[in-house]
Amino acid sequence: MRKLILITLFWHCATKLIHPTSADVERARQWYPEVDSLTLVTGMKLYKAKCGQCHRPIHPGTFTAREWIRHVNEFSDEAKLSDNQKLLIIIYVQTFSKDRFDYSKYDAKKQRRKRKG
Ligand code: HEC
Repeated sequence: MRKLILITLFWHCATKLIHPTSADVERARQWYPEVDSLTLVTGMKLYKAKCGQCHRPIHPGTFTAREWIRHVNEFSDEAKLSDNQKLLIIIYVQTFSKDRFDYSKYDAKKQRRKRKG
């Protein structure tokens, strides 16, 4: 089981974090109306810096939005997060979580969104 977790972590870490666009800001506002692009970019940077100290940052698409709250809380002391930093990280990872971002329209290798249709 432990081996499986490590392999899963490694596989997900190989993928780069997604840089937010204005479309992502619009989506994020459904749940957090105050979000702007700086919120998401700051969240991404914090996530990389704070949650990438011991292991590479785990890809946001690994978990659902709800699961992410638990994972960020679990490691917030170890990562020494302030309440504000914790919130920014949660908003970023949730915006690109398994159930809030359409990965079928995203080309992870080329780091860009596929054209519609
Ligand atoms: C002080 C080192 C350290 C920091 C900082 C850290 N992690 Fe981890 N993380 C670990 C270790 C060690 C494991 C593997 C063993 C375990 O599960 O405790 C792990 C495993 C995980 C896992 C796999 C499943 C689980 O819950 O155990 C997730 C998800 C995770 N970390 C998320 C995060 C997030 C989100 C942050 C930032 C808020 C973070 N980590 C910061 C050390 C750290």
